[in-house]
Amino acid sequence: MLKTLFIAGCLWAATFARVFDPKIITEVRKGLEKNLNYIEKNHVRVNVDCLFGVALTIALIDDAYQNGTHIMDKSSLELMKKSLVILKHSIPYAREKSEWLTEAFLHPSIWRKNINFRNNALHISNVPNFKHVKNIFERNYAGGSETDFCLQNIANFTNAVVPTRCFIDERCWKYFEYDESSVGYLLTHKLLILQLAKARKCYLKEDIYKMKTDELCSLIYTEVVNADYYGYLDNMFDLYLEEIVLCGYEGYSEFLQNKWLYYILKSQRPSGCFPAFLDDSLKTRMKRNSNTFDDGCVDHTTGLGAAVLALHYNYIIKEYPINGVEIA
Ligand SMILES: *[C@@H]1O[C@H](CO)[C@@H](O)[C@H](O)[C@H]1NC(C)=O
Ligand SMILES: *[C@@H]1O[C@H](CO)[C@@H](O)[C@H](O)[C@H]1NC(C)=O
Repeated sequence: MLKTLFIAGCLWAATFARVFDPKIITEVRKGLEKNLNYIEKNHVRVNVDCLFGVALTIALIDDAYQNGTHIMDKSSLELMKKSLVILKHSIPYAREKSEWLTEAFLHPSIWRKNINFRNNALHISNVPNFKHVKNIFERNYAGGSETDFCLQNIANFTNAVVPTRCFIDERCWKYFEYDESSVGYLLTHKLLILQLAKARKCYLKEDIYKMKTDELCSLIYTEVVNADYYGYLDNMFDLYLEEIVLCGYEGYSEFLQNKWLYYILKSQRPSGCFPAFLDDSLKTRMKRNSNTFDDGCVDHTTGLGAAVLALHYNYIIKEYPINGVEIA
């Protein structure tokens, strides 16, 4: 027992040690470039969820841009330009498949915010518990149609320009309150609904928003850490990326650990894309719309891959405001 606790303690404590390696931001930039090139090549067939990752990427890189004073600024401009071209090329195709999703999600400006990274805002237990992993695979109710209904409900009430009082359908509040012990995509979708409401300028009380995101990201973090501890990240890779992207976007730096960044970079295919699972033995059910291509990659996961790399790029630049020499 003592031994288990000790190991667990080390595992959790080792989380934040981050020594800056100037090569790492270059690795992240290259990974992101490769990823965007892949999406551009497939711009006719990638779905809205994938393009949402590209829209988030633009917002995240724009937030990292330091007005020409940071050594990565030239790269930042190039990455944004590349991403904007993708959206320009692919939105006509995406609109054909789902007009409201395209309209609701794909304006980078609605996702633009100043991310202030912080840690220790999450309520987390220090003791590993396999229950959290088991739940992901056994009770992974993705709630696809309910999520779409609620997202569309928000999209219908907002125009993303003028702050609006949003009359959220009762069904969505029920869904939101559905079950405090919900897991997997159900948790990330709840967070996404909240994030879309904020991005599209529903009036939301700042303290309530913070309380809800603290709550959701604490539950989500517990899942990620336990899945990592028990070796299940490969089997839920798409979900794992979604968890990192949505909570990282809220500024919880616990989600942006170095070892996880290396793991993500290592899992990227040479073509730049990402598969939904890295291991075939046991899989989480995939969330709503995703397409698997001939090369084994999935558009949903690949879009998340862009966003997760953009998030790390943003985080590294904010954490290390190095000026001067270009490190390409
Ligand atoms: C960059 O310029 C804009 C507009 O002038 C300003 O609002 C922003 O704070 C600046 N950002 C940095 C990092 O200096
Ligand atoms: C949103 O508006 C569209 C078009 O008016 C309508 O078809 C759809 O049912 C609405 N959806 C929700 C969830 O309110």
